Amino acid sequence: MRKVFINIRELLQVRPVSQKKVAGQLMKSLPKIENAFLAIRNDRIVDFGPMAHFKAQNEDELIDATDRLVLPSWCDSHSHVVYAGNRSQEFVDRINGLGYEDIAKRGGGILNSAKTLQNTSEEDLFEQSIARVTSLIQMGTGALEIKSGYGLTLEAELKMLRVIKQIAQKSKLKIKSTFLGAHAVPEEFRSNKSGYIDLIINEMLPKIKEENLARFIDVFCEKGYFDLEDTQRILSAGKTYNLQPKIHVNQFNAFGGVALGVKHNALSVDHLEELMQEDIEALKNSETIPVALPGCSFFLGIPYTPVRQLIEANLPVALASDFNPGSAPSGNMNFVVSLACIKMKMTPEEAINAATINGAYAMGISEDYGSIAVGKKANLILTKKMKSYHQIPYEFGNNPVENVMLNGHFIDAL
Ligand code: NIG
Ligand code: FE
Repeated sequence: MRKVFINIRELLQVRPVSQKKVAGQLMKSLPKIENAFLAIRNDRIVDFGPMAHFKAQNEDELIDATDRLVLPSWCDSHSHVVYAGNRSQEFVDRINGLGYEDIAKRGGGILNSAKTLQNTSEEDLFEQSIARVTSLIQMGTGALEIKSGYGLTLEAELKMLRVIKQIAQKSKLKIKSTFLGAHAVPEEFRSNKSGYIDLIINEMLPKIKEENLARFIDVFCEKGYFDLEDTQRILSAGKTYNLQPKIHVNQFNAFGGVALGVKHNALSVDHLEELMQEDIEALKNSETIPVALPGCSFFLGIPYTPVRQLIEANLPVALASDFNPGSAPSGNMNFVVSLACIKMKMTPEEAINAATINGAYAMGISEDYGSIAVGKKANLILTKKMKSYHQIPYEFGNNPVENVMLNGHFIDAL
């Protein structure tokens, strides 16, 4: 089955197939071909180039992309899209003056979501979650990491991870699964945190391994949640089960979590709204990618990750949605890219690099996703009519996506 896009105004993010990420000053460039074609056979990209080089073969389908752009679909490397219910009451409470951490202290926040999820059946949780995933696909997301962490009991964590597995099987998205048992200390372990960590290590991890439910391990390394020692214990245990770290660090306080993540060969360190010089030093000469989550900063009104400092230090940066009911109840990557430009002063080129190839790197899938290269998966965004990709972040809140192709198939027939 051969399909060819023709007359593409701009074919964006054209990279050598061997390139896995882009760092520092190089993030300023977004390689493109103007007036291009792109050929797909089955689920892979097989050819592309300027229209002048296009030779018609026996095409099954020609897609006229006149006045429109084609780019890799968004690679969202940090989400908590599997959750039950919502926390709109806490949203209103925050408007009325309560802080995110105050709400957590009185048993709201993550514990509130955990209580709801524990009382939700696996079927219902799947239905609620797949509806969100479907809307993400329509907004251009083509690969998505999903975390557990609203279960906080053996049973409920497994329920979440099984739902993630079902989403991976039933949606057309590329899904990577992360075990985040250490998201919060449950009420019943309030005065026995190490007892909860024992439960994670001795009961949850073996079951997750048995059912092959996760590829990554995450910890909310934060004051009042899990400290450096706890994080160290959990990551070391995860390693014995072959789970690579992708951790929440420096959301509210910076105290060495980044260096700890690097030491444990974390694939990514995420949040970094607070950043110390020593965090930057720890990231240099490492394979760990920092991930910024501007939707969380926007929604909670907390500082934005100082990505300029990271880029100036020649580091790569990825952008992700953090889609979750408490700190970022949206997974719209178009808006994330806009926010990155408007609030973190990323250029459109940097933001698009961060949300495609670097997002793929932060999930360990950039061999197959995140750029336009022969052999990569045909997971693509076809934009609405526009003059240039600058309009994607510029027209904030608008949906720039006309159609999305996943594995070589449009989600809606044109
Ligand atoms: O990444 N910070 C920890 N976890 C989520 C929020 C969790 C919640 O409030 O439900 C985050 O922001
Ligand atoms: Fe998160």
